[in-house]
Amino acid sequence: MRNRREEVIAGHRLEPESLSMGYGYRPEWSEGSIKSPIFQTSTFVFKTAEQGKHFFEIATGQIEPEEGETPGMIYSRLNNPDLEILEDRLCLWEDAEMGLVFASGMAAIATTLLTYLRPGDILLHSEPLYGGTTHLVNETLPEFGIVSVPFRADMSRSEIEACLAPHEPDGRLAMILIETPANPTLDLIDIRMCADIAAARATDGRRPLLAVDNTFLGPLWQHPLQHGADLVLYSATKYIGGHSDLVAGAVIGSEADVRPIAATRTYMGTMADAWTGWLLMRSLETLHMRMTRQGDTAAKVARFLEEHPKVRALRYLDLLGPSHAQYDVYRRQCLGPGAMISFEVDGGEPSAFRFLNALKLVKLAVSLGGTESLAEHPASMTHSGVPLEEKERTGVSAGLVRLSVGVEHPDDLIADLSQALGAV
Ligand SMILES: Cc1ncc(COP(=O)(O)O)c(C=O)c1O
Repeated sequence: MRNRREEVIAGHRLEPESLSMGYGYRPEWSEGSIKSPIFQTSTFVFKTAEQGKHFFEIATGQIEPEEGETPGMIYSRLNNPDLEILEDRLCLWEDAEMGLVFASGMAAIATTLLTYLRPGDILLHSEPLYGGTTHLVNETLPEFGIVSVPFRADMSRSEIEACLAPHEPDGRLAMILIETPANPTLDLIDIRMCADIAAARATDGRRPLLAVDNTFLGPLWQHPLQHGADLVLYSATKYIGGHSDLVAGAVIGSEADVRPIAATRTYMGTMADAWTGWLLMRSLETLHMRMTRQGDTAAKVARFLEEHPKVRALRYLDLLGPSHAQYDVYRRQCLGPGAMISFEVDGGEPSAFRFLNALKLVKLAVSLGGTESLAEHPASMTHSGVPLEEKERTGVSAGLVRLSVGVEHPDDLIADLSQALGAV
């Protein structure tokens, strides 16, 4: 399916937003159809038994494909043309070798962790993490004998290594998982520093892998692989899908690191379906435009909120000034502030609820990154299951509200936020 011929025109390298319309697909394969058809099929017919045997030998790693040979289609749990074209297109945004699409962001994260973690291994992770990921690392993984060690964004490398130290005599650090910016606090984690922590623990040619959940800024405003990450994880439900009409996930990285995850995906059956893959290709065509507009609007909304007397502890990445501890990390690893905003309203949960209940244009719903602006209350919704003590430690306070800015007119959003704050 790979078709790299359109990548360059007269020596000019094309950008992902231009390639998103046709990369990896040729209309002549499908009666001239400008869009790839939806391959709504469970299985694929082999021309001969010998061909079927050959396809399986490649798919199961018994033989390597020949130079230029693309693995044949077998069964939609292993591969499907819509997913393969989409995966190639996702790689364009990260300049990566291999991508995989999953049934959800959680499927992408869980499949990745279960590929690389074994009983006795240590998972070092940032906090806060999205509530679902928190449950996975705090509750599910320990049941399989995996030790989860959290660290906070404000910790230095030596403080993080001090968190690890008590566990290292008994286990091997196998993976570092970070979410940056963190959901919902927008705390930033230094990707390079985490890559250095991993590199310092390489033994016998094995190194702990660094996986970065890039859902809040990717794929436009942060490219973790360029800062030393090994794997980029996505809830593709968010900006990549972008229309709040599907649930999907993705993992992107080098072929060596992603190939083993593909095998786990095959045997756990956590892949996305063809229709979702097709919808995500549709979404990628407008990704740059949507995210740029959302980012511009978020800047205007943040300026309004910054001056509002009822708004406290406003978090929006462009507000990080040179005196802020995370300013250098922001300048080094982010290409923009994104379109996510968090803030507190005075009076804890009752005031936050009054504000959320008064919204008219902004929808009161979890999720983010879609065309419509969404607001939610992390402490009682997305992070409801996170223990209170952890919420307090990580800044998920009772008055915190999270806002995902959509593509509506900025003045309309500001009018709505203004009247809702008036109700507090
Ligand atoms: C940062 C982050 N990672 C992962 C997920 C999980 O993704 P999904 O809901 O697609 O499973 C979410 C969901 O909100 C998220 O915000």
